[in-house]
Amino acid sequence: MLAGKRILLIIGGGIAAFKCHDLIRQLTERGASVTPVMTRAAAEFVTPLSISALAGEKVFTELFDLTAEAEMGHIQLSRSADLVVVAPATANLMAKMAQGLADDLASTLLLATDTPVLVAPAMNVRMWEHPATQRNLAVLQGDGIRVVGPSDGAMACGEFGPGRMAEPMEIVEAVGAALADGPLTGRRILVTSGPTHEPIDPVRYIANRSSGAQGTAIGAALAALGAEVIFVTGPADVPPPAGVRVVRVESAREMQAAVAEALPVDAGVFAAAVADWRVASASDRKLKKTRDGLPALELAENPDILAGVSQMGAGRPGLVVGFAAETDDVVAHATAKRARKGCDWIVANDVSPATGIMGGQENAVVLITADGAESWPRMSKTEVARQLAGRIAGALQDA
Ligand code: CTP
Repeated sequence: MLAGKRILLIIGGGIAAFKCHDLIRQLTERGASVTPVMTRAAAEFVTPLSISALAGEKVFTELFDLTAEAEMGHIQLSRSADLVVVAPATANLMAKMAQGLADDLASTLLLATDTPVLVAPAMNVRMWEHPATQRNLAVLQGDGIRVVGPSDGAMACGEFGPGRMAEPMEIVEAVGAALADGPLTGRRILVTSGPTHEPIDPVRYIANRSSGAQGTAIGAALAALGAEVIFVTGPADVPPPAGVRVVRVESAREMQAAVAEALPVDAGVFAAAVADWRVASASDRKLKKTRDGLPALELAENPDILAGVSQMGAGRPGLVVGFAAETDDVVAHATAKRARKGCDWIVANDVSPATGIMGGQENAVVLITADGAESWPRMSKTEVARQLAGRIAGALQDA
């Protein structure tokens, strides 16, 4: 899948730079060629010599050591690749990218490139969680930059939490998704996933048992076929897929706003288990026990995101796929739901506790289309996702 692909690898200055040895090996073993660029700080963590030996190419470090500078060598270097990968992407490098600063070779290349960019952030957990970094991340994602990781775990600085660079194999997968040339190349697809949390007060919320596993598998499968995926996710148990644009939300109303922002798209897959109700007036202070009795929670109906998009008229995605979580009469309820919401397809599943589907690894679905109901055998959620992505690709090709 990577054979013949040219990757410009920008190595930032972080302890995770040592993982680039393995990353380069994994990429070159798959047939890709890697042109390494190191920031000055990166050279404090790994030697240019070892990187160059593994890549089998010269390492570029300084803006002015590009021999062809008179011919704008940095522009050339940034454009001749199929993909630019930044690993580790430090907080500083991400901030420079978000601002458009170009004060060394790495940042100049990133500003000059018109090639897709994938970043693998790595930093201390507090730096990652800092509002400035999160703001920069949002800017980069808004610019269409793909992000892989970071993951949770023990870090070199002794702290624990998100900030560890994705493992080389995860980065390789994300590179594959970013370069995927498939039937969905050039298509923009929105996926909603996970549960929503509806606040009762600042510390309590209403939620459901969705893990986000099926939506995550669908996002990954669509990306693997070449789609640009906008992945709007509630607070899920499983991490979002690699190589997609992730938009994190909490409540149904936030999800609705993120979906509106993501439009227009070629197709929308609404796999999220959106809470049907929210607390009508969530308290901005923690509710206290009183002698006057129990608090009364008045509920209000949440907007139906799927129905809204299905029935929007102008700007409606060419294909709208909803899900139906049912516990009885699955086909009858899901068929009625398809008509009521106005979507093109419904992927229905039986979420009775005995099936072990909600929160589990497998799914048994019935695909409801205008042509009727089609029962798929029980299979892994990954396989359901692959088959569904294939069907979506077919439908968009026919359209
Ligand atoms: N959905 C949505 N917005 C909501 C509720 C549901 O977009 N406020 C979407 C889900 O993402 C899913 C589909 O609607 O694709 C069906 O969700 P489901 O919970 O099965 O249906 P409900 O609308 O809750 O209908 P019912 O209460 O009859 O089961």
